[in-house]
Amino acid sequence: MNEQNFFKRIIVALDVSTKEEALNLVQSLRETEIFKIGLKLFSAEGPELLKTIHSLNKKIFLDLKLHDIPNTVSEAVKVAVRHGVYMMTIHSSGGKEMMAKAVEAGIREAEIQNVEKPLLLAVTVLTSLNDDQLKEIGIQDDTRSQVLRLAGLSKEAGMDGIVCSPQEIEIIRNEFGKDFLVVTPGIRPSWAAAQDQKRIMTPSQAFKKGADYIVIGRPITASPSPEEAFQRIVQELVESQ
Ligand code: C5P
Repeated sequence: MNEQNFFKRIIVALDVSTKEEALNLVQSLRETEIFKIGLKLFSAEGPELLKTIHSLNKKIFLDLKLHDIPNTVSEAVKVAVRHGVYMMTIHSSGGKEMMAKAVEAGIREAEIQNVEKPLLLAVTVLTSLNDDQLKEIGIQDDTRSQVLRLAGLSKEAGMDGIVCSPQEIEIIRNEFGKDFLVVTPGIRPSWAAAQDQKRIMTPSQAFKKGADYIVIGRPITASPSPEEAFQRIVQELVESQ
């Protein structure tokens, strides 16, 4: 892959609290194409920020991890289509019907608006949960089996891919083939601090294992120069091939 390809495949997580901080980052990261907006920033600034970022010709990964009845999730997907969202997350534990309805709603609304359907990504088991905690909520299988079960269900429902930890990239690729997007956070360049991330991989390792997109937050956003940090990551990726 060349530089341009990596620009499209490194998603920067805007884990900040205000529109001002978010837009400063978006404007300084000129080559970055996709920005992830999660619950905190969306709760603080709402859809207005999506419109602004979209108008700056940037793509939005809306990471709200939707989990509700099929109708409610479908309606939320339609709204996201109208805001020009590029990719978004849905909890696969909401069930196959919920995901299938969300996919259908995304396709239909995109046709109506004459835009691309957002890529719908499934969240399986939160990485904050371990096997004991799964048992507490009534799931006897271990994390790995549960991730595979939910990933399979997501694929059957027509979801475009999955968000998973770097440790799961290979197994998801092997089980579900190439036509299922793999997006992974938990990425740290060798020169960055791990912070609270535990089972990390470098950008180059993650792409070599088969990730389609990687999500990076603090190593870029908390750097004195986010643009330099982003460029350094891209250069290292180009050189590591
Ligand atoms: O700053 P950092 O690179 O750790 O940010 C990673 C982003 O990915 C954050 O927005 C975080 O919430 C998200 N994420 C994660 N691990 C998961 C799921 C999501 O780090 N298992």
